[in-house]
Amino acid sequence: MFDAADKTIARERETLISREARARTEAGSAQIAALVVQKLPLLQPWITCYHVAMLRAQVLPVLLLVLSFSQSWVVGLTLLVAGALIPLFMALVGMAAEDASKRQMTEIASMNDMVMDRISAMLDIRLLGAVDRSAADFEARANTLRERTMAVLRVAFLSSTVLELFSALGVAMVAVFVGFTLLGEIGFGSWGDGLTLGQGLFLLLIAPDYFQPLRDLATAWHDRAAGFAVVADLDELDAADRIGFVGQAEPCTPLAGPISVKSKGAVARVADSEVMVPDLSLSEGQSVALVGPSGAGKTTALAALAGLVPLASGDIEVNGQSLNEKTADAWRARLALVPQRPHFPDETLQDWLDPRGTGTDPTSALQMAAALNIVARLPDGLETRLGESGGGVSGGGGTATALGARYHDRCQPASCR
Ligand SMILES: Nc1ncnc2c1ncn2[C@@H]1O[C@H](COP(=O)(O)OP(=O)(O)OP(=O)(O)O)[C@@H](O)[C@H]1O
Ligand SMILES: [Mg+2]
Repeated sequence: MFDAADKTIARERETLISREARARTEAGSAQIAALVVQKLPLLQPWITCYHVAMLRAQVLPVLLLVLSFSQSWVVGLTLLVAGALIPLFMALVGMAAEDASKRQMTEIASMNDMVMDRISAMLDIRLLGAVDRSAADFEARANTLRERTMAVLRVAFLSSTVLELFSALGVAMVAVFVGFTLLGEIGFGSWGDGLTLGQGLFLLLIAPDYFQPLRDLATAWHDRAAGFAVVADLDELDAADRIGFVGQAEPCTPLAGPISVKSKGAVARVADSEVMVPDLSLSEGQSVALVGPSGAGKTTALAALAGLVPLASGDIEVNGQSLNEKTADAWRARLALVPQRPHFPDETLQDWLDPRGTGTDPTSALQMAAALNIVARLPDGLETRLGESGGGVSGGGGTATALGARYHDRCQPASCR
């Protein structure tokens, strides 16, 4: 059972990560991280405990009820009434539990988004003197999360109190009935001439066991509520609109042939809008500068030429072939693409320029990129750490960009000038 739960969670996690990495939704990466790290594991108790508890609650109480009725109809009736009230209350409390769990899950996700957002804007926050305000925002959100977590706990305590009350009353009533019957004070409720000591003890022993599966089910009910909230999150993500790209992002052999790019009447599709890609025809050794006001579509045009956004119409030809699902991975394996906001793993320049650790001297590559002087000016030279925005190399992304961002860490970039 645990093995099956672990496998299910691992499968969901893998699907989620590979799908989100390939085609994004509007959900922030922190939201996805919360789902993968914090929420998916909540499926485990639901999968492992709930169904077993439900099965036991359906079989054992019925069996023990039949045995109780066979000894005494009063004991049977007492257990029946007390037992029947428990699922009723649990259903009522369960609805509130589900609602509270959903709200807690939403808060966890948006809290993570906020942390991510503030960390990435940390420098701006300090420069603008907004540290105190950010801290106050954090405090407010943390308090909301605390309140929502307490709401879940309140519901849990309430349901277990109701359950314990009914089971304690049920057991106590059985004990009183058995005791007084054995003393001869009660002369009804059992078949024949009262209860023998053996029958009385038997009834006393099975009464707590009658309630135990129901108590276990109540605990599992909360796991179910949390599990349902996670499944609702997963369903929402399944149904969300995705911004895909062309190809599979699989490692592959670079596209053969002399390098060339041609676009004709291409229109890129981004979210709900369409952006024109300028008609162009470039072959080896040629350069082109795309200029235009902000929002004109320069970044989108470059992304379309790399197959990173799909086309709504028109065609892009690369190395004489149409850029499509079949050729996009191989085409990108041929490219070194430097995006507007490059992202680097936080490693040294040397590791970055020699990702496979072959020990090749990068001097000639740096010379071709006119970056030898830049590296010479760095106090740690090739041992300088880039930092995730390339800021370790310069005040902005510019210099790191000049050094050439590695587009696909498993595909060797080639020059596309
Ligand atoms: N992911 C996206 N979702 C929605 N709209 C988008 C997305 N990416 C681009 N757009 C829209 O496409 C248009 C072109 O944007 P793009 O970023 O390509 O412009 P740009 O010329 O690179 O601008 P800048 O000079 O500011 O970098 C804009 O109207 C922008 O709002
Ligand atoms: Mg741009």
